[in-house]
Amino acid sequence: MKLFQPYALGSITLRNRFIRAATHEGMADVDGAPQQLLEKLYTRLARGGAGALITGYAGVLPQGRSSFPGMLMMHDDNLLPAYSKLVDVVHREGAPVIMQLAHCGRQTRSAVTGMRTVAPSSLKDGFFTEDMPHELSEGEILDIVEAFASAALRAKKAGFDGVQLHLAHGYLLSEFLSEQSNRRRDRWGGSLENRFRIVSMIMKAISRKAGNYTVLAKINGYDGLNGGMRVFEAVQIASLLEASGCHAVEISSGTIAEGLSIMRGPKLPIDAVLAANFKFASIPQMIKPAMARLLPLLAPASPKPFRGYNLEAARAVKGAVSIPVIVVGGIHTLEDASAAILDGMADVVSMSRPFIIEPSIVKKFQEGSQVSSKCTMCNYCTIMIEQEPLRCWYGRLK
Ligand SMILES: Cc1cc2nc3c(=O)[nH]c(=O)nc-3n(C[C@H](O)[C@H](O)[C@H](O)COP(=O)(O)O)c2cc1C
Repeated sequence: MKLFQPYALGSITLRNRFIRAATHEGMADVDGAPQQLLEKLYTRLARGGAGALITGYAGVLPQGRSSFPGMLMMHDDNLLPAYSKLVDVVHREGAPVIMQLAHCGRQTRSAVTGMRTVAPSSLKDGFFTEDMPHELSEGEILDIVEAFASAALRAKKAGFDGVQLHLAHGYLLSEFLSEQSNRRRDRWGGSLENRFRIVSMIMKAISRKAGNYTVLAKINGYDGLNGGMRVFEAVQIASLLEASGCHAVEISSGTIAEGLSIMRGPKLPIDAVLAANFKFASIPQMIKPAMARLLPLLAPASPKPFRGYNLEAARAVKGAVSIPVIVVGGIHTLEDASAAILDGMADVVSMSRPFIIEPSIVKKFQEGSQVSSKCTMCNYCTIMIEQEPLRCWYGRLK
């Protein structure tokens, strides 16, 4: 079956068409070095048959660190030995491993990171509302370009098979690409070419520093914000990525400010939100039961589609580029995956939550013992990473 045959992304040979999508694990120490817990998880994922693993987002600068604990960092050469060890663990199991590089931009909290938040324009984020971000200067943007390239070089030295630039979900590079968050009038804002400039400079800087190295990108096919990303722009961005030497593009959608739009589900994970989300931390425990009853009333009567919700955007991108297209988002069954590939909507599928509940989901698909993920899309994993390392919470919080 085509789905289980090797497939090339740049110089990387995937073992099959299923990638473990970037998923923040919260398993790094205070310096951002991967801990043993992460080695164990990656061993299980690699043994479980994933075509390749993409790490959780790794910060290229302390300023771009997540407010969630345990984020991987790739800003310092001292981290290299720990990453070499992690890469060896995955390679021993026969899987390629790609590092996702990110800068959180305005989607983090200075109260946690101890550093001011930064963005293309000084506009508050709709969710992380405590901070008014600092508008980056020309010099600061160029420093960020170099930081991405240095992190890519470190990834190459540590043995990662490639890197993925995180251009999605409202983080810094996604903020540059979207007119909603980028209101600049200089060479970094305005036209799409200008908004893309930071990415094209990062691509050039990576090639200058790391030579011929496989670089993937994850972009938003669309978001739900007023004046935000639309599919036609995503198609143009994918073409610009191809022209700048990117080897494959992964299609996602949404921003943190839109709530759970990035990883949707049939129900709001109210208990988890009240237990772990910083916005509810100061609310007295005794009021929380009443809020648990009230909050669902504020939610829309019918949730957004939560199965294959990025497929149409992927199809549009695939029609415009010749590099491989990866699609992520609510693809949780063997049937969804084969339809996405056989119908020509994507070349590869990636999954996040199915691997959280079952690290060996691909092996189960391949052996025919299971055709569907056991994930209920309860999204407790998503909320609880604000407090502790990644795990499946299915049925444990209620
Ligand atoms: C707990 C959790 C952490 C995530 N962390 C990241 C991340 O670090 N980088 C990223 O690009 N996407 C991240 N995502 C989004 C996923 O990669 C994926 O785009 C989304 O969950 C939809 O795919 P799924 O339906 O297969 O879960 C995360 C998702 C979850 C559930």
